[in-house]
Amino acid sequence: MSNIFSASIGQKLIMSISGLFLVIFLLVHLTVNSLLLANDGMMFNVAAHFMATNPVIRIIEPLLAIGFIIHIFYASLLTLMNMRARPVKYYKVNQKESSTWASRNMYILGAVILIFLVIHIANFYWKLKFGEMPTVNYGNGKIDDTYSLVSGLFIRWWWFDLLYMAGAVFLGLHLTHAFWSLFQTLGWNNDIWRHRLEIIGTVYAYIIAIGFSVIPLYFLISGQSN
Ligand code: HEM
Repeated sequence: MSNIFSASIGQKLIMSISGLFLVIFLLVHLTVNSLLLANDGMMFNVAAHFMATNPVIRIIEPLLAIGFIIHIFYASLLTLMNMRARPVKYYKVNQKESSTWASRNMYILGAVILIFLVIHIANFYWKLKFGEMPTVNYGNGKIDDTYSLVSGLFIRWWWFDLLYMAGAVFLGLHLTHAFWSLFQTLGWNNDIWRHRLEIIGTVYAYIIAIGFSVIPLYFLISGQSN
């Protein structure tokens, strides 16, 4: 029994560290993506080119992929262990910690986000890395016109916008619990900090959910008005 317990603490720690990495990634990703809404995508294209060619980012990219894989792997393992070790309903054991819907459905939310991510990578990342890309020249040589790829998909397919908005909402729900939970696992679990982290986590989750929704919504509306 103690083996199961200490193993799951170690796994929670690995999940928290990989989760923290993903929390930071999402903020950077949203910041770059918000440039899609400015001056016909010029700033977005320049930023996307910087992210694609900068040597530091190129090292971080495979680490990010490993972070995602570790996070998903340990989430599955922990869920399985919890199901085996605790056939009694979880909320009865620690009601306060597990009182929100999101906290009780983290694995389902994670699975939905994973499906979204596979669709997302196939449509954007894969096409950018391995497909034929249009280029633009702002005076410093040709770079990929990533803006055309993104705006083209968002303007052409309304359901694609809805898919992205739904993905952002699921991601936000996942983060409402994930944020403070990861800091709690890392040791910030006294009463004062728990309350503060819950507030910061909620604000963060809203920023991510609204931020990632506004982008497809913008193209949905501008596509309709053209
Ligand atoms: C409005 C919503 C979004 C847009 C417009 C967007 C756009 C993009 C683009 C253009 C790329 C390719 C970047 C490149 O390789 O140069 C990309 C990659 C990626 N996106 Fe998104 N994204 C959005 C939402 C999300 C969300 C919600 C997640 C996480 C759940 C996510 C996770 C990733 C990952 C993991 C990659 C591959 C790593 C990278 O290239 O940075 N994206 N995204």
